[in-house]
Amino acid sequence: MPSLVHSPKRSVAKQQEALLALQKFVEHDPKPTSVTKFKSPNTTDDAHQRTLAALLRKINNTVPPQYRSDLSSFVNWKGNAESPIHRWLRYREAYSPNLITKLGLGDNILDPFCGCGSILIGAAENGNTSAGIDINPLAIFAATVKLTPLSRTQLQAVQKYVNGLESALSSAKPWPMPELSIASKVFEPVILETLLRIRALTEETFSGDKESRNFLHLAWVAILERVGSYFKEGNGIKYRNKKRLKTGYTRRPEGQWQLERFGRDQKKFVLNAFCSHVRMMLQDARFWRRGAWRDQTAIEGNVLEMDKLLARRKFDSIVFSPPYANRFDYFESMKVELWFGGFVDSYESINRFRKASLRSHLGADLNRSYQSVDDLEQLIALMDQDASSWRMGVPDLLRGYFDDMRVTLKHCRKLLANGKCYVVVGNSAFAGVIIPTDVMLANLGLECGFKKAEILVTRHLTVAPQQRSKLSNLEDNMRESVVVLS
Ligand SMILES: C[S@@+](CC[C@H](N)C(=O)[O-])C[C@H]1O[C@@H](n2cnc3c(N)ncnc32)[C@H](O)[C@@H]1O
Repeated sequence: MPSLVHSPKRSVAKQQEALLALQKFVEHDPKPTSVTKFKSPNTTDDAHQRTLAALLRKINNTVPPQYRSDLSSFVNWKGNAESPIHRWLRYREAYSPNLITKLGLGDNILDPFCGCGSILIGAAENGNTSAGIDINPLAIFAATVKLTPLSRTQLQAVQKYVNGLESALSSAKPWPMPELSIASKVFEPVILETLLRIRALTEETFSGDKESRNFLHLAWVAILERVGSYFKEGNGIKYRNKKRLKTGYTRRPEGQWQLERFGRDQKKFVLNAFCSHVRMMLQDARFWRRGAWRDQTAIEGNVLEMDKLLARRKFDSIVFSPPYANRFDYFESMKVELWFGGFVDSYESINRFRKASLRSHLGADLNRSYQSVDDLEQLIALMDQDASSWRMGVPDLLRGYFDDMRVTLKHCRKLLANGKCYVVVGNSAFAGVIIPTDVMLANLGLECGFKKAEILVTRHLTVAPQQRSKLSNLEDNMRESVVVLS
């Protein structure tokens, strides 16, 4: 039963309540653990593990998982680095468009967290119709460019432009630098100047042809990391002048790492990266000749407002992979591309996106109210309150996450004609507790009006080394699954 709406400030009272519920649950468990241990979550490791194991068993038993390792390569897709059109922009955690045939998604498909459009491109290639939503303007820009075939004349103009780029470059005035505070740290000076000149020349040459301009702009954004002094790692970016060793990071000698990475001629390095990326895109453009490219809609917006964004539409199937509840902030890891690409122009605008995005990371608006989930409160009651993730506010992140997912699933239920909703999601672990997100989403789906829920486990995930000792016998609960709601 869902409880009332809470604000995060009421979490302490909520936690006491959950501890009591947990006490009751342990009293009824066939293999009980001493109840006195639950007065504080800081129980001994053994007692903690037994209680957590019993709680996870209880939650898992509500929708027993089935194993479908044949889905693993579709969910955890490597093809976006190589497949034509998909490879135009590297995007984290894209899944395979072949899920359309593998899951039999039908003709009219919705992906409400469409990222850079994997499903939409698959739908276009198969001649289906689809719609996608994403809050990230860069993701929607990339999806839109991929879904907008250029004419033969436009492709020829782009080809001619890259062929003459090197000689035309010196006459171009550099495009203005964004106000990102690390702007001059993320590129070497010559690289930065070359990039800004290419940007200016593209804008000027294609001022009257937005489609070609966007095609070239996507190529430009896509090469930023390759030519940059940074790379995406973990939950953000790292600088190339540092090297990771087993013992920690060490500084690479100034001058030498640049030489190793970019060679002697940095201007040429950028030109080659840009022109070869555009040429690869021009080659892939032949795939535009067949398919239903104009029947796909990519919408920049918030999934929580899906009912307004897609008013009066119905879909045969819905498929999506939401951000996992793992603290990963897409706006942090893509900040260089967002600022340089002109998708944000102030700290206020990037923070607005961050705050509005799903409550799966600590930069989201965790002060919004939530409707509590009993299983989640019991899991939170078992968390180690000394863990850094607890102190940083992970309990409220999780409360917000499941609340956002409840709203999403409610919208999905309404937007479906008769078909199924497929959610690709991974479980996570914080402060000594595993969150079985897959089963919990299945139960939320049932609460939102779906009649049946299944869990298809595609593969097991690992837990971070610092959590391993506490979770050693429970790692089976770390999995990536497809939740099927019908
Ligand atoms: C796992 S990725 C999806 C990747 C996608 N399946 C693909 O193949 O490219 C999750 C996406 O959810 C988006 N997202 C986060 N919060 C959102 C929100 N409130 N509304 C819509 N999209 C959101 C992120 O920008 C990200 O692109």
